[in-house]
Amino acid sequence: MSSDSGFDIRKIGGRVGAEVVGVDLRDVSDGVFAEIKAALLEHKVLGFRGQDLTDDDQIGFASRFGPLTGAHPTVPSVEGRPEILSVDGEEGIRSNHWHTDVTFIRTPPKITTLRALVIPPYGGNTLVANAATAYRDLPRELREFADRLWAVHTNDNDYIRPARTQRGDEYHQVFTSRKWKTAHPVVRVHPDRGERGLFINGFAQSIVGLNSRESQAILQIFQSYVVRPENILRWSWSPGDLLIFDNQITQHYAPDDYGDLPRKLHRVTVAGDVPVGVDGQKSYLIEGDDAAHFTPTAGAA
Ligand code: SIN
Repeated sequence: MSSDSGFDIRKIGGRVGAEVVGVDLRDVSDGVFAEIKAALLEHKVLGFRGQDLTDDDQIGFASRFGPLTGAHPTVPSVEGRPEILSVDGEEGIRSNHWHTDVTFIRTPPKITTLRALVIPPYGGNTLVANAATAYRDLPRELREFADRLWAVHTNDNDYIRPARTQRGDEYHQVFTSRKWKTAHPVVRVHPDRGERGLFINGFAQSIVGLNSRESQAILQIFQSYVVRPENILRWSWSPGDLLIFDNQITQHYAPDDYGDLPRKLHRVTVAGDVPVGVDGQKSYLIEGDDAAHFTPTAGAA
């Protein structure tokens, strides 16, 4: 599909993701940016090939969507770049678990941007799942059940344990050096589209009011809809690519299938609002602070 401004937005899958062709992200007019923003809301994930952006370019483009967060609530940023998280396989950062960025705090980022610096000759893809189509796939009885549930998300969750190597263990210790627990609705209403999506992921540890056995069984049923192949985009990276996704209504996964080969991305995230459930109730903090050191939306009403 050609956009109004002459570049192409090419769907990758029927349900999620599009590639944007014919745009230089260092030089985006307000009109083109408005179309990119609308395309992101519609397709949930946008890929831009061969952009070869610098750190400054990535920060500049990401900040057009709104104020940025810091790199991460606990993991240090790239030196001198407080907004950039280095996703470096050699440093034990291999996100081979389904997750949505930083949902353990009350105001998780709304958008994630990933830029490829070093990519292995095979493997090292990123998968992104559409949590809205997953919700719509649920039978009506399960949708209505999900609409009423809340889940406790925490970074102190042994599901979030990267490669069992010394580096992976050290990374896990840093990751959990401060702890948060937040209750979010299992079904989040998208603030811009009003669309409902399953807002669960690897950080979701339990369902409010249920024990751990019951919680895990129910979360697994919902998660099985998120990870249906038709709901997933698989992005095969080349160095210089930029991928952006709507972190409010997706989950992502980076398969750890490249052995000892180097893989490095830079991640920059845009600050998000307090999630809202179907009944209009907002997420609430159970443990930890409002993460004001990480996000400018901390303390939002
Ligand atoms: C992330 O989880 O934000 C990074 C994903 C990736 O390594 O592809």
